[in-house]
Amino acid sequence: MAMVLSYASTSLHHHHPHHLGSLGLSSLRICSSKPFKSTLTTRIRTPVRALSTAITGIEPVENASTEKVDNIEENILACPICYNQLERRGSSVSTGEATSSSSFQCGTCKKAYFDNGTYLDLTVSIGAKQYTESKPVSTEVFRTPLVSFLYERGWRQNFVWGGFPGPDKEFEMAKKYLKPTLGGNIIDASCGSGLFSRRFAKSGLFSLVVALDFSENMLRQCSDFVKQEKNFPTENLTLVRADISRLPFVSSSVDAVHAGAALHCWPSPSAAVAEISRVLRPGGVLVATTFILDGFFPAIPFLRILRQNIGQVSVSSNIFLSEKELEDLCKACGLVDFTCVRNGSFIMLSATKPR
Ligand SMILES: C[S@@+](CC[C@H](N)C(=O)[O-])C[C@H]1O[C@@H](n2cnc3c(N)ncnc32)[C@H](O)[C@@H]1O
Repeated sequence: MAMVLSYASTSLHHHHPHHLGSLGLSSLRICSSKPFKSTLTTRIRTPVRALSTAITGIEPVENASTEKVDNIEENILACPICYNQLERRGSSVSTGEATSSSSFQCGTCKKAYFDNGTYLDLTVSIGAKQYTESKPVSTEVFRTPLVSFLYERGWRQNFVWGGFPGPDKEFEMAKKYLKPTLGGNIIDASCGSGLFSRRFAKSGLFSLVVALDFSENMLRQCSDFVKQEKNFPTENLTLVRADISRLPFVSSSVDAVHAGAALHCWPSPSAAVAEISRVLRPGGVLVATTFILDGFFPAIPFLRILRQNIGQVSVSSNIFLSEKELEDLCKACGLVDFTCVRNGSFIMLSATKPR
């Protein structure tokens, strides 16, 4: 993190002259030939909780409904080993508030997965008695109680030095990219303490919000924040523990994936983006933010050659990529219509699963 901050660049990258003035982000530039979609092509599959036009400025696309979305998570949740749909064995899954335990079972390998009252654990190694596995530092550091506690109490605020506009503005920006998926389900991948999952759930714009992270303590923090908020709409929020490289969702079942400030923490960005691509339905959208390498070192023309010879440029186990590499990564994983916004070392990118 110290590295992130010390290399935080304040220089702007003016690729294309589209401003995000409506968000008050006069310094941000959209770096793509593909403009934001202005028409709403939302596909409504399920009843949606009250859509808040006050928050989004987006017109409701269907009559507001408070109907519970009971079966949706069952339709998309899959065994992380077999990728087949899970069958419910107990009561409802975790909403961050639930106290009842419930379980799911894979009809193929028969493995059972349990909800501990805070989150549903859908990691491959859950249930192993002797076998343990540790991930790279960029994953493990967030599993600690201290970092999880500090995350929304100062840690995340530091990202502003790298050019991150801050959660409120990032949320507004993400919503624009997510317009075509409103009314569907969204996975907030590597949600941390749920700063965006909670915003997605409260917006009522999605039929189901899955707050997913590998860190048990981050998910506990998310649950605590939910509990602290009066009248939080828990009915469309599900907390799931999973590895980004082994997503526990049925292929082509997910409308949107949001991944805030996480790509540089993933042990294998290609395995992760391939998984995201697998679970996205045709037309589904990925929106992700990360720190970019060419934000840290904008003036190095031979960066690619350097990286070809010395391998991945990593700080601890973080993997920082350039804009071109991110575009290439999305393309290699079967995603199209790459578009992005940059500010210093901050990038918000979007890519779509072809129809
Ligand atoms: C910097 S935090 C981002 C949190 C939040 N999305 C945000 O925008 O601030 C990175 C998150 O990635 C998660 N993470 C790291 N490795 C992961 C993995 N292999 N699978 C799932 N999540 C992972 C960490 O637990 C951590 O919560």
